[in-house]
Amino acid sequence: MATSTAPGKVYLFGEHAVVYGEPAVPCAVQRRAEVSVKERSSGLRVQAGDLTLSGFAVEYDGAELSRPDVDAPDALVDAALGYLNEALAQARDAANAPRAGFDVVVNSDIPLGAGLGSSAAVTVAAIDAATRSLGIELDRTELAERAYQVESAVQGGQASRADTFCSTMGGAVRVEGEDCQTIDAPDLPFVIGYDGNTGDTGALVADVRNLRNNYAFAADTISAIGDLVRRGERRLTSDAQAELGRLMNFNHGLLSALGVSARSLDAMVWAARNAGASGAKLTGAGGGGCVVALDETDETLTALNYTPECETAFRAALDTVGVQENS
Ligand code: PMV
Repeated sequence: MATSTAPGKVYLFGEHAVVYGEPAVPCAVQRRAEVSVKERSSGLRVQAGDLTLSGFAVEYDGAELSRPDVDAPDALVDAALGYLNEALAQARDAANAPRAGFDVVVNSDIPLGAGLGSSAAVTVAAIDAATRSLGIELDRTELAERAYQVESAVQGGQASRADTFCSTMGGAVRVEGEDCQTIDAPDLPFVIGYDGNTGDTGALVADVRNLRNNYAFAADTISAIGDLVRRGERRLTSDAQAELGRLMNFNHGLLSALGVSARSLDAMVWAARNAGASGAKLTGAGGGGCVVALDETDETLTALNYTPECETAFRAALDTVGVQENS
């Protein structure tokens, strides 16, 4: 049996614009997915728990993935199983073991489909654990590339390398097209608010693409996000929190202009700002899910906990550890 863990992430800056070749800066946070894999002669058995903050369990046994009876939106369960299936296919391919079967157990404390990179973390940890169970060890660059191929396949070609690269490497990363780098960042005081909802990443990306195709000022908005990311990445130091927060606020406004915010996300963003956060923005595809704020005091956490639109709020420090074998 091999077990690996990988972190979720927040976008400090740049989601959506990254799809069009602008840079983005995701940061891994200390919320991790754990995947254990044991080889078996054939077939696949998947057991998953705690895939949302409230938690649910999926148990499945058989040669093909069928619909488990769980209290969670179908699309989410399909997506979770789809990522796992593709990740295991990548592991079989890497190990040249086309017929390998697996027993898989997934546990994650990253809310599913909420902009915190849960699917990337599960994918990265699953490829790492499955390849180890087949006796090979991938280097991180190959692992990140294979994880990207999984996201791309499951999301119909609509994926950037940001989530999977960040989850593989840990820490803060910079992604611009195919160019992915780890970058130095201080331990920023992230506070996350979660509305309990999910956004449909594929649909939101498609909506932004339509806007960009039809309105020159939407294309300009995407370029403006790229400009602020280039400015922000130069200020990734512990004494520049006020400026980073200002840029996060600007980033949220531009995402909102592109139509990917939501009333609940705006309510949490304003609760954080009014509580004195340096800045706050939605993270990930939007439509629902999480916001990220910067505040080293407890004020933002308290304010979010009193915000009716916020289901849960928590601190999540920068996680400098990427994918890791659990011994
Ligand atoms: O919501 P998430 O964590 O799947 O993030 C999506 C980020 C986008 O930039 C909107 C899409 C992508 O693949 O980069």
